[in-house]
Formats: sequence, structure tokens, C-alpha cells
Amino acid sequence: MIIIENLVKKYGDFYALNGLSFEVNENEIFGLLGPNGAGKTTLIHILATLLKPTEGGAIVNGFDVLHDATKVRGSIGVVFQAPSSDDMLTGYENLKVHALLYGIPRKIRERRISEVLKLVGLEERKNDQVKKYSGGMRRRLEIARGLLHHPRVFFLDEPTLGLDPQSRNTMWTYIKKIVREEKVTIILTTHYMEEADMLCDRIGFISNGKIIALDSPSRLKQEIGGDIVKITFTNGIHSAKDFTHFEFVHRVEQNENSVIIYMDEVNSNLHRLIKDLEDVQSIEYKKPTLNDVFLKFSGDSLSGDSPEGGFMQRYAEYKRS
Ligand SMILES: Nc1ncnc2c1ncn2[C@@H]1O[C@H](COP(=O)(O)OP(=O)(O)O)[C@@H](O)[C@H]1O
Ligand SMILES: [Mg+2]
Repeated sequence: MIIIENLVKKYGDFYALNGLSFEVNENEIFGLLGPNGAGKTTLIHILATLLKPTEGGAIVNGFDVLHDATKVRGSIGVVFQAPSSDDMLTGYENLKVHALLYGIPRKIRERRISEVLKLVGLEERKNDQVKKYSGGMRRRLEIARGLLHHPRVFFLDEPTLGLDPQSRNTMWTYIKKIVREEKVTIILTTHYMEEADMLCDRIGFISNGKIIALDSPSRLKQEIGGDIVKITFTNGIHSAKDFTHFEFVHRVEQNENSVIIYMDEVNSNLHRLIKDLEDVQSIEYKKPTLNDVFLKFSGDSLSGDSPEGGFMQRYAEYKRS
């Protein structure tokens, strides 16, 4: 549905996009996940024909973004990162203005407006001014508006930015419903890894204008290998070498008084791992998250979490008896 080939966008000497190539399949939710400034919005703007690339190109729904911009625009819906509905108008009026702009025929206009309002759960509030909407409702109205003309491809730039956790959850439910009922291909950008994990069929990690990894969330997490174990010591420093000789250990990070070990099957291998250690204070364990994957590929944290964040289960009972 989308083919991106060697896209480059330069601002002066600065590369906002530095040679991106990938494809997006029909009816998938494709997530662009990366920190602020990674180039996500720049890419969406190029695909939506609002910005010209410095080099390379892209095909959207069979149309070239450089040479068939009008046809591309007819194929897509966009919800921008910054709010763009008129807050003096009602929800219904915002949709009607948009339907007129897009030349949606009068005969089907009212039916389609009702349909999209229902899709995002706003029928009851359609006659309220948008300034009375919550942030989540406003975003949902913009989604409804972007879908009015039956786009084949739908771009959502940071759809849950600034929403509270509950509205974010609600938004995820609606996004899933849209893919099911409207049969659109979605590209969404986010810097929330839970969001990408929850919603996306595939994820492209973007960092400094480059795709650094691309796969399904589960396969990306498998890349890390099994489990992540953190062992904290009461005194003394253990070096990575104390652990790397085990065949089930993939990688070891050494910190001041702890080590983080990426390994297979913590349940069956932990005993061997700690058998000869005298000074274990605690052992914690977690399954890898997308943040760990991002960390591995880019060396940076996605969420501002330190690599030590998110450990949940404690294995204190494994202390040497
Ligand atoms: N008009 C512009 N002029 C100069 N630099 C820009 C411009 N627009 C974006 N950038 C830079 O390009 C990089 C990517 O920006 P953006 O695509 O908005 O990132 P994201 O959406 O991933 O946060 C950033 O470093 C940003 O400062
Ligand atoms: Mg952005």
C-alpha cells in the first residue's frame, strides 16, 4: 500500500530523514516508534504530499507523492500532531465543513457524517462546541473528519500525545475498530512503546532519521533473547566475564553494584547462574519490552526509562540457602 524508497530530507546540513526504505502492507497498522526529533512527523508530511523530499520518493496507494500529489491526497486521511479542528464550531459543523471541502455528495453526506460520529463515539456530543470537548474527544473528532471521504490510507501522528492514560486506552479501542470497520491501512507515529506494542502489526524503530529495526512487536522482543535478570551485590564488583561463559547468557551489562544479564529461560538457568556467588543482595527479573529493543539498536532509551526500569518479579527467595 505504501512503498518508501531511499527518502532523504535535509534542512541545511541537517538530515531530518537519512535514507529510509520500507513498505507498508494493505490493512496493517504500521507504527513508527522513536523519540522526539527522530523524523516521524517529517516522514508523515512527505507521504501526505505536504513536504518535498530532498532525495528519494514514495508511492501511496499506487500514486507517486512527487508526481501524483492530487491522487495521493484523495487516497489518504491525516490526523496531525497539532489540533486542527475549529473549537468555535460544533463537532457536527466541523465535519460538515470538511465534507463540503472534499466535495462529498449531498445525498450521502449526512449519512456518512453520522457513520463516522458513531465510529468514534461522539453522536451524543455532536451539537456541542468543540471547545467543550476533552482532549481525547477532540482527537476522536479529528479522526472522524479524516475518515469522511473513505481514505485507503490513514496517517495518525502521535494520536494519544498529551492524553491521560484512560483516554489513551479508549483511543486504542477506537483505532482497532477503525481498521476493522473501515478497512484502512494505518501508519501511526508514537513515542509510547506500550501503544506501539498494543496496536501495531509491525513497528519501524526510527532514530536520527533512520529505520534501525523493523518487525512485528513479538519478533522484535525475541531479538533480545529470553529474559532480563538484574543481580545486585552487597559488596564487591562482579565483571561481565563472570557470566558470559554460560551458554544461556547472551549479553551482560555491568553497573556499579549490579549486573544486567540477557539470558534464556531464567526459571531453569538461574540456579546455575548464581551458584558460586557469595554476595547476592537481590535478584530481579523481567521480560524484554520494546524499550529494551530500542536500547539495544540505538543505545538510547525510548521512554526516558533507564535500562534498569521495569523490573517486576523479585527472586529474593533464590538467595543462596
Ligand atoms: N522546518 C524545519 N527546519 C529545520 N529543522 C526541522 C524542521 N522541521 C523539523 N526539523 C528537525 O527535523 C528533525 C525531525 O523532526 P520531526 O520529524 O518533527 O521529529 P518527530 O516527529 O519524530 O519528533 C528534528 O530535529 C527537527 O528539529
Ligand atoms: Mg512529531
